[in-house]
Amino acid sequence: MTIAPPSLINTLPGSSYADPEVFALEQERIFESSWFAVARAADMPTPGKFRTVQVGRESVLLVRDRRGVLRAHLNVCRHRGARLCTEPAGEVRNAVRCPYHAWTYGLDGSLIAAPNLAEMADVDRAEYGLRPVHLREWLGAVWVCLAQRPPSFEDTVMGAVTARLGDADTVEAWGIDRLELGRRIVYDVAANWKLIVENFMECYHCATIHPELTEVLPEFADGFAAQYYVGHGAAFAEDAHGFTIDGGASFPTLSAVDDAHDRRYYAITVNPQVFINLVPDHVIFHRMYPLAVDRTVVECDWLFAPEVVAGGADLSRSVELFHRVNQQDFEACERCQPNMTSRVYDAGGVLVPSEHHIAAFHHWVTEKLAG
Ligand code: FES
Ligand SMILES: [Fe+2]
Repeated sequence: MTIAPPSLINTLPGSSYADPEVFALEQERIFESSWFAVARAADMPTPGKFRTVQVGRESVLLVRDRRGVLRAHLNVCRHRGARLCTEPAGEVRNAVRCPYHAWTYGLDGSLIAAPNLAEMADVDRAEYGLRPVHLREWLGAVWVCLAQRPPSFEDTVMGAVTARLGDADTVEAWGIDRLELGRRIVYDVAANWKLIVENFMECYHCATIHPELTEVLPEFADGFAAQYYVGHGAAFAEDAHGFTIDGGASFPTLSAVDDAHDRRYYAITVNPQVFINLVPDHVIFHRMYPLAVDRTVVECDWLFAPEVVAGGADLSRSVELFHRVNQQDFEACERCQPNMTSRVYDAGGVLVPSEHHIAAFHHWVTEKLAG
């Protein structure tokens, strides 16, 4: 392996992005061990509404119970293991009934009925209820953790946002939990999840592949890595009126966003699978679902003030800017993925100085995998 000169830092080896065994270890030690954003709480607005999501190797059933509390359970019948809900989203009435032998669970997970259950007085209905999963709500998102003892949410999730923005209050100003979903686009990306994280963390590529974005954020044309500087938001171009595909005006700045944060763009990464983008009038929230070593589904939400969504405003010019950025980014990641197994990439590639901060992500991954 060539030792890189000081301006270049080695990346992870190619196998890290292409070897199913590495991915299996990541499922166990990263996705099943960290707080993982699975949905927007408003995706399940009323009791009985559910979503099923993949977290590591497990299917997780998210459902709002009769009292209005969000619950997460493993989507596994405790009888003989049938998957309870196979739809990605839907609605049940008062209970979840297994289609195989009709064991039936309350929305809180308890076993409430089963054929002949009354004759099996020794069966503890709580013990044979659905296996609960730790759940937190923050920024309007539902975060789950499959670990028996989850890491501190405050340190790992809130801490990542604070470390990027410099304080805890800034993100609260956007009131993300009160924003409404204007548009959701789901991307099925043929690339390893780490390529997507690394791409999001650097802007060395911006001048090459993001012509529309660099029009609105000119400092990105120089490859300026905004994420590297605590508290820094990329300033809008003087002639940009909004964060839109053509720099044209969009919607009023959200009321609690102050002047210091107006006309700026902030990008935040929360390991392992969330990106949050703050602009004055909306928020773009990415959740990644790594499904295979070379496949990642990315669910991207565009969130606006409730009155903007309720008023039926045309969101298309706002949505189009980051949708195009997403397409450009994911295409770049898909261009790299097949070459992760090339012999020339056995030892990986290199990071130039404006990408050096990605090494911290590589250290994070390496430490997690070391257990
Ligand atoms: S597997 Fe669910 S009731 Fe039998
Ligand atoms: Fe990009």
